[in-house]
Amino acid sequence: MQVSKLELFKQEAFYFQLPNFSFWKERIKQIVLVEDNKNIHGHTTIPNEECQIMAKRTAWNSHKRYPILKELCDEIKKHIKKYVDEEGYDMPIIEERDCWINWYGKNNYAQPHHHAGNLATVLFVDVENTDAKFIFNSNNNFVLVKKDDVNNNFTNLKELQVKDGTVLFFDGSLYHSVSPNTTDHTRITVAANFDVVYQEDRNEY
Ligand SMILES: [Fe+2]
Repeated sequence: MQVSKLELFKQEAFYFQLPNFSFWKERIKQIVLVEDNKNIHGHTTIPNEECQIMAKRTAWNSHKRYPILKELCDEIKKHIKKYVDEEGYDMPIIEERDCWINWYGKNNYAQPHHHAGNLATVLFVDVENTDAKFIFNSNNNFVLVKKDDVNNNFTNLKELQVKDGTVLFFDGSLYHSVSPNTTDHTRITVAANFDVVYQEDRNEY
């Protein structure tokens, strides 16, 4: 009797460096400064409810509250659209659903979670000076590992090395997390979720 093995699924994530990044970084850091000093400025969109992100963040719909974040969504969309069109992927229209800024102070982290919407994106704004890492988490709960395989490197975690200015995009249902920031430097990212829209009147089928 022979047992055969099937390869099943593979996951892909994509990334690029955002052009003109210093322009965006400066404006995003300004928003964080204002939101973080709400007592001084009398303005904040920081929500009160808890979520899996043990850090500070602006409201989910910050692209509707801060025009610069709407512009950032449009910019990210433009680059993703150019790539998918050049590669011939079938992604006719993408529309932003949510957009918010995260900032992780000392010992802040994010538990494994996934995002609403089809396509999740993260812009890494200020991450290189902290030790917090972006991690993809698989939810495998049964994996065969050989007892004598000393080189086995199976893990449910995939840690990414990203730079400031990197935009990562991936299937929004993929679990991911952020390891604790043990430094005194604040880690800043912007997350945006997009929906992929297929027009009903498209007659290619
Ligand atoms: Fe996330």
